[in-house]
Amino acid sequence: MKSFIIVIALISVILASPIENTQKLFKYQQSDEIPVEFKEFLFKNGRVKIHIRAIEETDYVTLNYRETQIDLIDLLNVETNQVIETNLTYNFLEPLDREFMRISLPSTVTKDSEFILDIKYHGVLHVADDNGFYRASYRDQNTNELVWYATTKFEPHHARHLMPCYDEPQIRAPIGLQVQHDKNYRTFSNMPIINRTEIEGTDYVLSIFIDTPPMQTYLLAFLVSDFQYKSNEAQDIEQRIFAKPQSIQDGSADYAAS
Ligand SMILES: *[C@@H]1O[C@H](CO)[C@@H](O)[C@H](O)[C@H]1NC(C)=O
Ligand SMILES: *[C@@H]1O[C@H](CO)[C@@H](O)[C@H](O)[C@H]1NC(C)=O
Repeated sequence: MKSFIIVIALISVILASPIENTQKLFKYQQSDEIPVEFKEFLFKNGRVKIHIRAIEETDYVTLNYRETQIDLIDLLNVETNQVIETNLTYNFLEPLDREFMRISLPSTVTKDSEFILDIKYHGVLHVADDNGFYRASYRDQNTNELVWYATTKFEPHHARHLMPCYDEPQIRAPIGLQVQHDKNYRTFSNMPIINRTEIEGTDYVLSIFIDTPPMQTYLLAFLVSDFQYKSNEAQDIEQRIFAKPQSIQDGSADYAAS
């Protein structure tokens, strides 16, 4: 079944103390609890809503999937956003390394019908220089402590580590990204932020980005970090160079931004 999508991902990122060798913890281990030592590098409250129009009659939807733990899949009405059916069943297609999950619909949908799949899940960040959604660090020159940040490398087929999705180059849709993160961090993505709100009673803020134009999932990118930037508007288009605060302050980014 092929379809079009609107993705709304709500991701919350926790970054804390250093732990090495997390590697591919979540590979197809749907029933396993997360070991305590990995909880520091979770992305939790993962939620993706995919707006689908069936181009043929079907009773299932197949998505690209990698490693995340699925918590709940609901089927929503496109107009009202209300739940039509909760806790849809799913399975992973063999061979597992093809990375497909198949979600069963409660009944057959006809050609051209539209619905929303609302998938809640959580996962673990990959290690530095990996792919998908990963963490990396630098060492603060004053305190000598590691400072962590999270970022993405989705090209060519790693967006599926952030969220179950149509991670296929021929499928484009607007992507609305929302990121919950520690208020000492900032987040940047393809699009500008339209709203940044503190979440009451927590150390988190919610940053909401403007929807992207229709595009492939692998083009999405975002960063959650304490990075600062140096900007340059010489050609009427703002260009920003991001770096750790010390590098911006000592002028290391000046040349790149000139
Ligand atoms: C979803 O269904 C499974 C069994 O099919 C059950 O174990 C689980 O508790 C259900 N979850 C929710 C949130 O209803
Ligand atoms: C930003 O979010 C707050 C809280 O949800 C809301 O009250 C406000 O209207 C939002 N602002 C915009 C511009 O969306």
